[in-house]
Amino acid sequence: MFYTTEKRDHGLPHDPFKAIVAPRPIGWITSASRNGEINLAPYSFFNAVSTRPSIVCFSSEGRKDSLAFVEETGEFVCNLATWDLRFAMNQTSAPYPRGVDEMRAAGLTPAPSRLVRPPRVAETPCAMECRLLQVLTLKDLEGRPLDNHVVFGQVVGIHIDDRYIRNGLLDTAAMKPIARCGYNDYAVVDAVFSIVRPDVAEPAAPAGARQARG
Ligand SMILES: Cc1cc2nc3c(=O)[nH]c(=O)nc-3n(C[C@H](O)[C@H](O)[C@H](O)COP(=O)(O)O)c2cc1C
Repeated sequence: MFYTTEKRDHGLPHDPFKAIVAPRPIGWITSASRNGEINLAPYSFFNAVSTRPSIVCFSSEGRKDSLAFVEETGEFVCNLATWDLRFAMNQTSAPYPRGVDEMRAAGLTPAPSRLVRPPRVAETPCAMECRLLQVLTLKDLEGRPLDNHVVFGQVVGIHIDDRYIRNGLLDTAAMKPIARCGYNDYAVVDAVFSIVRPDVAEPAAPAGARQARG
């Protein structure tokens, strides 16, 4: 099939766009207002976009509380959403009124951050402390501003539960991070495989070379 996004003539009951751009990592964002109110919410329009320095971003469709709080105080924490925390993560996406601490509402434990004010989720194996770089309000093809705001933050500190470091490597599969797919679907990373990047001088490796699951 082919359809244009202008006409949305895909003939399906739901827009398949988010089922194509899948799985998307989830930034489970803690933020704090200038009055010290705490907010926690999941964002799957989330990714890392730079390594040196480490920069992450998440996109708020509308001016949600996380965006408002990050604009107020310039800091946030990205907590890793995992299989064990999937229901708590989902609970924090409920449309609570501004000022309700979703961390406590979902039965999670706040742990102090080292460099920023918003706490991290104690139960998560990894959390990244971030400082706001910029908020980019997107425009469409006609140059009209959209109510979509991408928050970029530089990662200034990273917490890792040492139990997931094995032979000097962070064992992603053991943490079982979850990711968002289309509709109400999620994926869980419980296995990884490795492929070594080619050297330009080497001929292409045969299919399947150096691949191992588990
Ligand atoms: C897994 C998941 C991913 C989500 N991703 C986004 C997203 O990328 N952008 C967005 O605006 N809302 C997203 N939402 C919805 C927000 O989490 C929800 O609107 C939440 O209430 C926002 O909280 P806040 O107003 O406290 O920031 C997502 C929800 C779930 C469950």
